[in-house]
Amino acid sequence: TIKACLFDLDGVIVDTAVYHYKAWKQLANSLGFDFTEHQNEQLKGVSRVRSLQLILGWGGVTKTEAEQEQLATLKNTWYVEMISRMKPDEVLPGAKQFVEDCRNAGLKTALGSASKNSMMILEKINMVNLFDAIIDGNKVSKAKPDPEVFLKGAEAVGVQPNECVVFEDAIAGIEAAIAGGMKSVGIGSADVLGKANLVVSGLSEMTLERLMGL
Ligand code: BG6
Ligand code: MG
Repeated sequence: TIKACLFDLDGVIVDTAVYHYKAWKQLANSLGFDFTEHQNEQLKGVSRVRSLQLILGWGGVTKTEAEQEQLATLKNTWYVEMISRMKPDEVLPGAKQFVEDCRNAGLKTALGSASKNSMMILEKINMVNLFDAIIDGNKVSKAKPDPEVFLKGAEAVGVQPNECVVFEDAIAGIEAAIAGGMKSVGIGSADVLGKANLVVSGLSEMTLERLMGL
């Protein structure tokens, strides 16, 4: 039986991908190159440092570790500026409702995100109190597809991994769920997320009935 739902943040609860993209693009442009929206897909679910390394690779630019740290910090400054203006209506359709439905049904809810800005975003959209546990980029050392973030979430809410369902928009996140022995629901297209137990286009398509049928 399913006892907990573990939610990724970026791309599942809220569409911050556009802000990440804008900030990374601005950084690439400042270094004299650009990258495509298609390339940007590869950055979803990927940590800040790893994202920068991929982008520098696309531009054929080499930077020292100290320079990389500065660049990642600069990008984050721009990103934080953008999300500081976020409004509660930027929650993705059906997301808040589904998390509330889960809680009303007695299920535990947890956040499992790579982002170190998770808390600020949850505050902006008034969803901090809808999670029994918040595991974010400040609490994990191994990035998805490593299952650490979700295993910590399951542990924090006192539920076994095989009683958890993970909601993810990134392939690395679905792989993390599988590696952790959890069920998963992909948010997006089945071409990309085919390994998940179920794929929906957004949480507005999710119901408790579909959840319990997994
Ligand atoms: C993930 C996003 O949730 O968090 C990635 O999908 C992002 O795009 C990563 O790079 C880290 O986020 P942050 O806010 O700590 O830079
Ligand atoms: Mg995501």
